[in-house]
Amino acid sequence: MSESLAGKAAALDAADELAKHRDLFALDDDTVYLDGNSLGALPRHVPARMQEVIAHEWGELRIRSWDESGWWTAPERIGDRIAPLVGAEPGRIVVGDSTSVNVFKALVAAVRLAPSDRDEILVDESTFPTDGYVAGSAARMTGRVVRPVAPGEMASAVGPRTAAILVNHVDYRTGRLHDLPGITAAAHAAGALAVWDLCHSAGALPVGLEAHGVDFAVGCTYKYLNGGPGSPAYLYVRGDHQASFDSPLPGWNSHEDPFGMRGEYVPGSGAVRGRVGTPDILSMLALESALDVWTGVSIDSVRAKSLALTDFFLECVAAYVPEGRVASVTPAAHGERGSQVALRCDDAGSVMAALIAAGVVGDFRRPDVLRFGFTPLYVGFGDAERAARALSTALA
Ligand SMILES: Cc1ncc(COP(=O)(O)O)c(C=O)c1O
Repeated sequence: MSESLAGKAAALDAADELAKHRDLFALDDDTVYLDGNSLGALPRHVPARMQEVIAHEWGELRIRSWDESGWWTAPERIGDRIAPLVGAEPGRIVVGDSTSVNVFKALVAAVRLAPSDRDEILVDESTFPTDGYVAGSAARMTGRVVRPVAPGEMASAVGPRTAAILVNHVDYRTGRLHDLPGITAAAHAAGALAVWDLCHSAGALPVGLEAHGVDFAVGCTYKYLNGGPGSPAYLYVRGDHQASFDSPLPGWNSHEDPFGMRGEYVPGSGAVRGRVGTPDILSMLALESALDVWTGVSIDSVRAKSLALTDFFLECVAAYVPEGRVASVTPAAHGERGSQVALRCDDAGSVMAALIAAGVVGDFRRPDVLRFGFTPLYVGFGDAERAARALSTALA
């Protein structure tokens, strides 16, 4: 059995058109890295670029770099680099701040655009915690209440009381993919606005922000976009909302005349309205450089490989792990699966520690979930087979 799956993995790797991209990343041959859904790997060329940024742009040009090195316009420029990966038009995405901060901007702005008699904000009840905390605060600030909604019931829960919904595109724990087109359409049919958290989908699968009329979206860049630890997040505002986007965090960077230093706040136009204060240039430029790995890569081919990888991993787990020892909480249906596999097992914490010691790096989410993220640009089928084999050993 083991040999035949290893053979199948070798054949799949040989036929994989994305396999060559692995060389673009700093990875160890003896480690299987399945935690790119938490922190993406380092693209090899980024350190040289950062050396240049630090030594030349900062070290020699100093203040001149805001203009001469394009630092001031980096948030919008890098937003335009992310745009094709999530199906957005140029000029709609700005990079900066954390995802948590951008959830706050987007959700408050969405509620401010909704009819004033709508008193609830819907949030998926299994949401990443920060989204729920921010939604609670946004609700208190805007005089609304938060109503948690069970996974899969968002489209039917939205109604005439709903101002806005906040949904995680892919559930961080289970890897479940929520129906972005259907839920967004249901929100619009009910007269509500849709805010999507793309942290676990951007760079792993097609999102189609414009195609599906999403109102606002946010996401991080340190997972599938490989921007580095704490790299800045992004905010998408649909074109027809840009002029009325009323940020709850107006700062001098989003002013129409930032260097006018005027007392009155007058927002600039376009994506720049999502800015707040001075951008974190070093992280931002590391992200910009990291995005070079996407040159010539189609997100559809990434999605096809992601599904093939997670299918194959599940096949190997079924073959190697005694029945009943683990249970997948990731949906089997492709239309409901992101780019990770989450397995439930009682002793998940110690099992993951054993896996990491054996060179297979996933992560553990309390109380009982083993998470394995499959980043198609650098994970191969041989990695999936080895990880499943190591899992069976760790469970024994
Ligand atoms: C789905 C989701 N939303 C929000 C966040 C929070 O992001 P940040 O720490 O950048 O604010 C995370 C972080 O992992 C996440 O996975």
